[in-house]
Amino acid sequence: MLRAARKPRGSQVSETSGEPSPITARSGAGLKGRVRVPGDKSISHRALILGLLSIGETAIEGLLEGDDVLRTAEACRALGAAITREAPGRWRVRGAGVGGLTEPTAVLDFGNAGTGARLMMGVTGSHPIRATFDGDASLRKRPMRRILDPLVEMGAQVVEEAPGGRVPLTLLGPRETVPIRYETPAASAQIKSAVLLAGLNSPGRTTVVEREATRDHTERMLRHFGATVTVEPFGPHGRAISLDGQPELRGAPVVVPTDPSSAAFPLVAALITPGSEIVIEGVMMNPLRTGLLTTLMEMGAAIEPLNQRDEGGETVADLKVVAGPLKGVDVPAERAPAMIDEYPVLAVAASFAEGETRMRGLHELRVKESDRLAAVAAGLAAAGVRHRIEGDDLIVEGCAGKVPGGGTVATHLDHRIAMAFLVMGLATQEPMRIDDGRMIATSFPSFLGLMRGLGATILD
Ligand code: S3P
Repeated sequence: MLRAARKPRGSQVSETSGEPSPITARSGAGLKGRVRVPGDKSISHRALILGLLSIGETAIEGLLEGDDVLRTAEACRALGAAITREAPGRWRVRGAGVGGLTEPTAVLDFGNAGTGARLMMGVTGSHPIRATFDGDASLRKRPMRRILDPLVEMGAQVVEEAPGGRVPLTLLGPRETVPIRYETPAASAQIKSAVLLAGLNSPGRTTVVEREATRDHTERMLRHFGATVTVEPFGPHGRAISLDGQPELRGAPVVVPTDPSSAAFPLVAALITPGSEIVIEGVMMNPLRTGLLTTLMEMGAAIEPLNQRDEGGETVADLKVVAGPLKGVDVPAERAPAMIDEYPVLAVAASFAEGETRMRGLHELRVKESDRLAAVAAGLAAAGVRHRIEGDDLIVEGCAGKVPGGGTVATHLDHRIAMAFLVMGLATQEPMRIDDGRMIATSFPSFLGLMRGLGATILD
């Protein structure tokens, strides 16, 4: 049988290094100051990957140097890119070009990184090479069939996989990849991106149809590197994205804008901590990433976008954030793709609001770095916040500024659960503790220092 349940040879689960690192956050004076969060994780992965798939040199400014992105850099090297780090955030990639990848000699270990692993499956699965993917205990639980199914349609073979379509798995790409028209079964930029990246090495046109528009960084960056991409509306909220295959991508400069999903943490911290007034500089305002801002403003948050400008092909703004009362709202399911990573910290904001907040259509949260719906619910329980799950909806009963706290939250190797509940602890009546903060380094290595710089009391 081809689809063996055993581990591919040479595969080892990547260990999270050292012992768990518990961290406690407690309330204190209002947060003050100006901060800039690190580069966007989604764009950082894509800059390296498109650098690999280009001829010539790609100079990247502002790359996120989090563990997830460093894993993607390693994988790009294993596939033939020459990559150097010239200064903090400044990286240079000399690519192998579409069709020019070399077969990796070792397992591609993506650690905690779902985006890196899934996008790179699209890359290797469309080249006639064999590549084995693996990751940590969190990545080993995440569904990969959603990526493998379209790749198999395009001609890739899944040589081995762990039960249920998980890593560790080995993919063998075909001699010639078949272009397809593919409707994604979930609103997922990762599925869309994997198929489009595979389409690069296919003759003819590859089309991805998504019923709900998801983050469009891959499409934008493909164009920036010289590919022909067309985007048409599909239904009330969707898009059909088509790519002409086998372009000659040329290395291009990339300036990585800051990550709105990281900005979300100091932003909510300032809103809920009485007496706070901060500015978060240069936050990316791509409309497919600003669902949290829309929601917080509906809740009555005092957030003022100042000095809107263009940075690296994206609109950015400085966000002035002032603490104040919030009210509960109903968050529509259609907004989920534009704030998919922000629900844990939105649940924290909702805990401090007056009245009930209903977040609809959260099924995709169950397959993130952890089952985030369950992890958020357990965290709210640990903080004494009343809540319930009805189908795919999470309903939080706000405590009107008086959240008891005093509990310990299990983070399940999930960086966003860790950061969300530390933010909560900055304004709860009793401190909040998380069981392990090591995963914060996957997306926001400077989180603790940045928050302490604003005056937060966080003890590790
Ligand atoms: C990402 C897409 C989202 C998001 C993830 C990053 C990307 O995942 O949760 O953190 O860079 O494409 P899905 O596309 O699976 O929703």
